[in-house]
Amino acid sequence: MPRVLSGIQPSGLPHLGNYFGAIQQHVEISRQASREKKDALYFIADLHALTSTQNKAVLEENVRAVAATYIALDLDVSRAVFFRQSDIPEVTELTWLLSSVTGMGLLERAHSYKDKTARGMTASVGLFTYPILMTSDIVIYDADVVPVGQDQVQHIEMAQDMVTHFNTAFSGTFLKRPEWKLSPTPKVPGTDGAKMSKSYGNAIWIFEEGKALKKSVNAIVTDSRPPEEPKDPDGVNAFKILELFLDDTEKASWRDRLLKGGVGYGDLKGGIIAKIDSVFGEARARYRELMTTEKGKAELEDVLQLGASLARPLAQETLVRCYDAVGMPNTRSRLSR
Ligand code: ADP
Ligand code: TRP
Repeated sequence: MPRVLSGIQPSGLPHLGNYFGAIQQHVEISRQASREKKDALYFIADLHALTSTQNKAVLEENVRAVAATYIALDLDVSRAVFFRQSDIPEVTELTWLLSSVTGMGLLERAHSYKDKTARGMTASVGLFTYPILMTSDIVIYDADVVPVGQDQVQHIEMAQDMVTHFNTAFSGTFLKRPEWKLSPTPKVPGTDGAKMSKSYGNAIWIFEEGKALKKSVNAIVTDSRPPEEPKDPDGVNAFKILELFLDDTEKASWRDRLLKGGVGYGDLKGGIIAKIDSVFGEARARYRELMTTEKGKAELEDVLQLGASLARPLAQETLVRCYDAVGMPNTRSRLSR
């Protein structure tokens, strides 16, 4: 199996977009992975989150929330390597080598940087050079495939360019060119119809329940058309969210009823709540246990530490290979530290 790698930022609680765009396929892939071959690697991108979360307690809590989400959703950690980005210091070292071959023009084209600054995020140097850190995350483990949502595709294209620049500059094949892999639902809309994102205030958290869940789902923007009015399913945001949970038969039946008239927005919202309860209900309890008990917290830490110990040798090998390539073979001695 090709080596699969992906990362998720601990910049808030994981939401339905993260689940259907990324986490669901990460968990599925983990079931076929081999720990010996290290062919599925997933990490919590805490260094990336520092560009938006500059609060120690919040960052620590969010890292645990992402870890608990993956474990509660049954990531097979006996097969996949699951770790924290900052536990692998070699990643930031390689970032510097890559920075030296990366043109400003490449970074200036990044949609994500433009979107984030347009929405009021501070334009730090870290936010600007973020695609270089992300490239380092991928290439340091010789990853072949990166399963992500649509919004990350441009970053993988940038990684491909940086690999070409590095290999060309130093005349060899030191880094592997990664490919992206989209899930069947790579662009999940938020409650306002724009891309669901932790930072846009339009997200529905995976493990929301009860009143809070009702409140999030009720925030899905609708118009004033009455239930009896026929509606084009593709123009109804609440249906686009409900659809994520439906099999083909269910989908056809809801579509048919919407087109004929007789389905109100309340019916769609009720349908979403029922699906969230049935799909994530059991995992919620596990999530809560991992987040709130000392035993749960220790379990998360153990999983991440083990993951880092498995991932780090791969990173060290690549880093030494790259230092050799640029003319700094003396760094090899650090492998034994
Ligand atoms: P956010 O935009 O909420 O901060 P992240 O950037 O941490 O989310 O994304 C983690 C993963 O989830 C990435 O693979 C990303 O492509 C995917 N993802 C995020 N939002 C969505 C969405 N609305 N639809 C599909 N996939 C998404
Ligand atoms: N930038 C990604 C996001 O915001 C997270 C990420 C960091 C990532 N490094 C990565 C994803 C490497 C895939 C591979 O969603």
